[in-house]
Amino acid sequence: MPTGRGESLSGHSRVPPRRATENRQMMRVVALIPAAGRGRRMGKEIPKASLSLGGIPLLWHTLQKFEGCTQVDEILPLVPPKEVSFWTDEIGRRSKLKKVQRVLAGGEERQDSVFLGLKAIAGNADWVIIHDGARPFVPPELIERALSETRRWKAVTAALPAGETIKEVSLEKEVLRTVDRGSLWIIQTPQSFEYSLILSAHEKAREERFCGTDDASLVERLGIPVRVIEGSRFNFKITTPEDLILGEALLQYLK
Ligand code: C5P
Repeated sequence: MPTGRGESLSGHSRVPPRRATENRQMMRVVALIPAAGRGRRMGKEIPKASLSLGGIPLLWHTLQKFEGCTQVDEILPLVPPKEVSFWTDEIGRRSKLKKVQRVLAGGEERQDSVFLGLKAIAGNADWVIIHDGARPFVPPELIERALSETRRWKAVTAALPAGETIKEVSLEKEVLRTVDRGSLWIIQTPQSFEYSLILSAHEKAREERFCGTDDASLVERLGIPVRVIEGSRFNFKITTPEDLILGEALLQYLK
């Protein structure tokens, strides 16, 4: 039985599937799925990735979306260190996820998890698409569109135009000002990048001890333009118990 960090999945070949790559001028695409959060805001002991959504673990839904994308060659999930064995067994047992060849332990912060993933795929990726494990309703069409845009732009993020009034508020809960929302976008994942660019961005952030809330912000610090593409309202992040209720309802609706 596989245990420990980053083991090969039983019955899965470590040789990367090449067919999709060959159709895209040999660009090899790896999807990194950070799912190592402890989900404290969920108020439960079970890590968020393992919470049930429609009777199966939340992360499973997310991985399936990437499995179905022709432009994605490999999927690398990063899970809490204690959950590596569980997920390795789980994915090995359900043979549907052919693009997941191994499961790795994530780090302390999301940025650490992504960095561990980037290091693990060194020499094996031309482009990388990074997506929160906690966004199980990502439309496959959005994944494909982000990757298509990466051909023109080296850094791409999904986002939605801010639809609500946004105010800056003090710690004492006093409104300081109303922000002009005309140019504000709510950032989602997926975010896709040229591999060498996102690796440099992460390395610089580590050197300078900068911690961002997403990967695109690390590229912005290099002065490299990041392109926004329109995301999806279904692509929300499951963070709180209320989100899980919405997720169950959406699952029923999409059936
Ligand atoms: O914490 P936040 O909600 O921003 O997490 C976004 C994604 O990053 C989630 O899928 C979560 O599991 C993942 N994460 C991670 N490693 C951490 C913290 C969060 O992979 N240490």
